[in-house]
Amino acid sequence: MSTQPPHSDRKKVTTLSFREKKIIGEQITMLTAYDYGTAAVIDRARIDSILVGDSLGMVVLGYENTLPVTMDDMIHHCRAVSRGADYALLIGDMPFMSYQISLDEAIRNAGRFLQEGGMDAVKLEGGRERSETIKAIVGAGIPVMGHLGLTPQSVHQLGGFRAQGKSATQAQRLFEDSQILQDAGCFSLVLESIPARLAKLVSQQLEIPTIGIGAGPDCDGQVLVTHDLLGLFDRFTPRFVKKYADLHLEMTRAFEAYIQDVEAGEFPERRHCFSMPDEAWEALLRELGIEA
Ligand code: KIV
Repeated sequence: MSTQPPHSDRKKVTTLSFREKKIIGEQITMLTAYDYGTAAVIDRARIDSILVGDSLGMVVLGYENTLPVTMDDMIHHCRAVSRGADYALLIGDMPFMSYQISLDEAIRNAGRFLQEGGMDAVKLEGGRERSETIKAIVGAGIPVMGHLGLTPQSVHQLGGFRAQGKSATQAQRLFEDSQILQDAGCFSLVLESIPARLAKLVSQQLEIPTIGIGAGPDCDGQVLVTHDLLGLFDRFTPRFVKKYADLHLEMTRAFEAYIQDVEAGEFPERRHCFSMPDEAWEALLRELGIEA
């Protein structure tokens, strides 16, 4: 891991910086992280925002989808990420059923992300049906990022992980939802797996910045799941992912080399061992009654 100090010399990114970047036409960068070490590396690479996504459920915890992820899972990982990052805007993803039951529960759970998890904001999925929830959370002083298009917590309702907003009716609804979420107080919106021209239209019409994932180049920023970018998650790779490394392969090579070395007696070598002064060694043998 990098031994560089954190970016104490740089001003932390805020929700206002997001809006400023949109105004001056600078792209906003965002990646997911779920642990201290990865967050530290991403933060020091000067990312604008780190999302502790509920994709955690799939890429770290090995579930089929994000539905089993709990508030306690999220808080645990948010705390680790917040210890590793002091520059990026930290956003915690509200898991399935943490904001749907009642406004009170939604506010309480959103608050936990800031109070216990060290996050700066929360994200939740859904369109117009979430507007009262968003107003309530924003009303409690907690910044909210919306999420439209492919909303993975609705995977069963959507009939799988598939692109959204392809028909005129679907696209119009998504367009209207984006305006409703802005009016409800969202500081930004994730647009996932929708046609690039629809994402462009939505981004042009909104004052708040859009962050795309599988939504083309004309959003106000981009996000990817870090495990996809690094080639760490081998179950499937969505077509919108650009792999910047193949760490799955690198890790496999490293683990196989380690196993081979241990089995062949080639690790550890002398330089990996600690020494003991002769006098201490001889005293020990005398004490134990063992002949040298
Ligand atoms: O959970 C997650 O990682 C997300 C991103 C895909 C936006 O919601």
